[in-house]
Amino acid sequence: MIGLSVLNDPLNPNPFDEALKGDELALSGVADMGHVVEPGTIDTSHGTILYLEDVTVSFDGFRALNKLSLTIDAGELRCVIGPNGAGKTTMMDVITGKTATDSGKVFLGQTLDLTRMNEPAIARVGIGRKFQKPTVFEQHPVWENLELAMKADKGWFATLRARLDRDAQAKIEETLEVIRLESDARRLAGELSHGQKQRLEIGMLLMQKPQLLLLDEPAAGMTDDETMELATLLNRLRGSCSMMVVEHDMEFVAALAGETGRVTVMAEGSVLAHGTLDDVKRDEAVIESYLGR
Ligand SMILES: Nc1ncnc2c1ncn2[C@@H]1O[C@H](COP(=O)(O)OP(=O)(O)OP(=O)(O)O)[C@@H](O)[C@H]1O
Ligand SMILES: [Mg+2]
Repeated sequence: MIGLSVLNDPLNPNPFDEALKGDELALSGVADMGHVVEPGTIDTSHGTILYLEDVTVSFDGFRALNKLSLTIDAGELRCVIGPNGAGKTTMMDVITGKTATDSGKVFLGQTLDLTRMNEPAIARVGIGRKFQKPTVFEQHPVWENLELAMKADKGWFATLRARLDRDAQAKIEETLEVIRLESDARRLAGELSHGQKQRLEIGMLLMQKPQLLLLDEPAAGMTDDETMELATLLNRLRGSCSMMVVEHDMEFVAALAGETGRVTVMAEGSVLAHGTLDDVKRDEAVIESYLGR
């Protein structure tokens, strides 16, 4: 079983085919936007990659998300913190199409209504998700793990195979460098440490060239050194994709947010506070519900 949420169906290479729900094309709004958006790209012309407005999700009457509103800028690395049960994972489930909303808006860029798309289609338009537990092909070398992750994305370009293979090689090498596993390329993934496996899984997601990467507690179970190495890796990815990182480890959050990065604090299914890490640390409601005195 592969844990990546971005695997592709080569028989149905066009993500927008699957964006169809009912009779309406999810991209139909494009024509109304006043500018042309190339199919397969995300329209971030207004500076926003992810837009959630008043999103509510109930489980048997319990509101896991309660009118959650949140915007992530294109290129931003946003940290999301908050107590257990705040709805952080549920929010990622909604963005990736795993959980349906009761109400509210969820848009990728200006035009892609994620509530109208299913999970594989959402993965194909460029949202990669990393779950807490690393899921790699233990019996395969690191290199092959990256290659397999890329093959899942070949559908669009199958006819350009020769060229793609050269590009693929370069992409794998580049990714190995980003995840700092160059010298482990030939080792079996199963032999890697927990921290290395986590980095490999991020590398596998990167092979799909995500526009938005969602990471749910990526530092959980890591040593302090591994945690800081992961922070360095994510900081290096800035600019190549937008990221949303849910995490409890405050040192890790500090390493990602720095002095100016924006941090969102969630509680009881909505946003409790929002600002720099210093801002939210000083917020009375945040101290009360999460950080403690
Ligand atoms: N499939 C489900 N069915 C019923 N309740 C659910 C389901 N998924 C989540 N919940 C409930 O929704 C609430 C929010 O859960 P969620 O996992 O999103 O919180 P979280 O912020 O990710 O917490 P943590 O920090 O512990 O990971 C919790 O009370 C949880 O029990
Ligand atoms: Mg969670």
